[in-house]
Amino acid sequence: MTDDVLLVHGGTPLEGEIRVRGAKNLVPKAMVAALLGDEPSRLRNVPDIRDVRVVRGLLQLHGVTVGPGEEAGELVLDPSHVESANVADIDAHAGSSRIPILFCGPLLHRLGHAFIPGLGGCDIGGRPIDFHFEVLRQFGATIEKRPEGQYLEAPQRLRGTKIRLPYPSVGATEQVLLTAVLAEGVTELANAAVEPEIEDLICVLQKMGAIISMDTDRTIRITGVDRLGGFNHRALPDRLESASWASAALATKGDVYVRGASQREMMTFLNTFRRVGGAFEVDDAGIRFWHPGGPLNAIALETDVHPGFQTDWQQPLVVALTQASGLSIVHETVYESRLGFTSALNQMGAHIQLYSECLGGTPCRFGRRNFLHSAVVSGPTKLQGANLVIPDLRGGFSYLIAALAAQGTSHVHGIDLINRGYENFMDKLRALGAHVELPAPVES
Ligand code: EPZ
Repeated sequence: MTDDVLLVHGGTPLEGEIRVRGAKNLVPKAMVAALLGDEPSRLRNVPDIRDVRVVRGLLQLHGVTVGPGEEAGELVLDPSHVESANVADIDAHAGSSRIPILFCGPLLHRLGHAFIPGLGGCDIGGRPIDFHFEVLRQFGATIEKRPEGQYLEAPQRLRGTKIRLPYPSVGATEQVLLTAVLAEGVTELANAAVEPEIEDLICVLQKMGAIISMDTDRTIRITGVDRLGGFNHRALPDRLESASWASAALATKGDVYVRGASQREMMTFLNTFRRVGGAFEVDDAGIRFWHPGGPLNAIALETDVHPGFQTDWQQPLVVALTQASGLSIVHETVYESRLGFTSALNQMGAHIQLYSECLGGTPCRFGRRNFLHSAVVSGPTKLQGANLVIPDLRGGFSYLIAALAAQGTSHVHGIDLINRGYENFMDKLRALGAHVELPAPVES
């Protein structure tokens, strides 16, 4: 398909300004939260990305009206007439995103049953959903696997419960929050994820009338209430997209002002960016990221749950590490297969060796399971244009960065996947002076 290929002529620093809006990993979940209310909600700073469109479609199938608000990027969601959706219609969304799993709690509360199609999302590891179903069972739901997907029922009102997650999963924590707020009694969630997007979801739920407290030891307590209203909320900015553009600025020796980027949620990234040798300047409206000249520094890096170095920051930064002097060590502890994208960087001239041992830091869950989850990146290396096939969202953006930093032309296939999480990325690339073009369609 020619329209899914991008020609990238590399070697030009990215320079200029782009803007990021609300976080991909918060906005669709806040949209699901609107389903819990009995009044309309207003969500602002909503990016036009595929995950938002998928959730919008699923909400509409369930009787929620979703329309534009007064300001650009505002959605008004009215859940006054929630109804069961046709299984075949829901199933049309199978494989499109991971968010449908978060419809379980809200639909069980509103309708007493829920149907969840096969999930999509990036292929960066096994991505099981066992934690989700286990917590839903603890709330009192029954789950039946049918050929077309999972069918859930709540024979009676769901009950608050005591849960300890085996790992601080973002999705499972959101599942608990979206279910516990209307369950009967108190829910105590230990070993919860505490990512900024989760805190923002808690803010959304609190605006709706939920009672939720967070302890410093990753314990979240939720006191169930009988009803929730609507919310009016401005989504927190996308710290993952912001870091992607920062890494692009560094790898291409450029200078990019990311309007909307927020320091508070990016502190760990900013420290690492500075250690590598990148420069940044924060003001009230955004952050400027640039390559200050001279060699970049090799570093040891370990991904972790918040407040550690976010796994989604890893792939774009690894491209910049191919330009650093010396040996960098990267230990990926969140997704077992998130370093697979590096083989294409090696084809472009990078020197990246993968290991199944936990290199450079704390032993993790993957150490004894033979996953290639550690990398040694030796640099600096000159990158050459290549034929690249996008493997997943962040890996895909990383390929774009590598192609932009490389000499010569790259053909990047599968660019449509990037629309899942990067709003108007083609316009942004062009605004930063990237030489990119879509090949002309072949005449038939
Ligand atoms: C969210 O995925 C994000 N996705 C991911 O962003 C992000 O990388 C991840 O959190 C970690 O921060 C969305 O918010 C839509 P997890 P999620 O549950 O919730 C294991 C991006 O590029 N696990 O925290 O699916 C799992 O296999 C995407 O923007 C189970 O074993 O992630 C993984 O090893 C990619 N069983 C770890 O937990 C379960 O039931 C963390 O996953 C659930 C998770």
